[in-house]
Amino acid sequence: MDKLLNNLKDMKYTPYYNNFNIGLLFLMIGGLVILQSCEEKKTEVLTPAPALSSTISYSRQIQPVFNMYCIACHEPSNFQAINLIDTASYKSLFVNHLIDTLSPEKSELYFEIKEGYMPPSVPLPSTDISLILTWIEQGAKNN
Ligand code: HEC
Repeated sequence: MDKLLNNLKDMKYTPYYNNFNIGLLFLMIGGLVILQSCEEKKTEVLTPAPALSSTISYSRQIQPVFNMYCIACHEPSNFQAINLIDTASYKSLFVNHLIDTLSPEKSELYFEIKEGYMPPSVPLPSTDISLILTWIEQGAKNN
């Protein structure tokens, strides 16, 4: 009879014990899931690169301004002081000392567009003027 009682106790105890283990397992899994999601959030915060997106690209942002407003006059067959077509513009700006990265606002290129001398007829949109100034301030990179 005693043996039977003991067996019964064991039977009751065993599932209880198992439930405890399962509970612990879920707790651990839950903890891991939370940890994992925290780490994902961390990398999300670290990935954005605002510095890269705000760097002005000469080929993608500056040259198109020259193409639109300048090369009608500043191209080899209608040569006016500087050549601003895409294969020559960057070198031409430096050969003619039109860029001063140490004092960007004193650059001849900036002076000409800011004062409205170039282009001669319609002034360059102010957004393009500040774009060119910022590009010079960023070191006038050929990027
Ligand atoms: C309608 C024709 C025409 C257009 C368009 C034009 N230019 Fe000029 N540009 C000239 C002529 C002509 C000269 C040389 C005579 C002078 O300095 O006025 C000149 C001279 C310059 C100079 C001075 C070069 C030096 O060695 O001192 C710069 C800088 C310049 N242009 C930049 C530009 C830029 C940048 C644009 C476009 C935003 C532009 N130009 C559009 C005709 C033009």
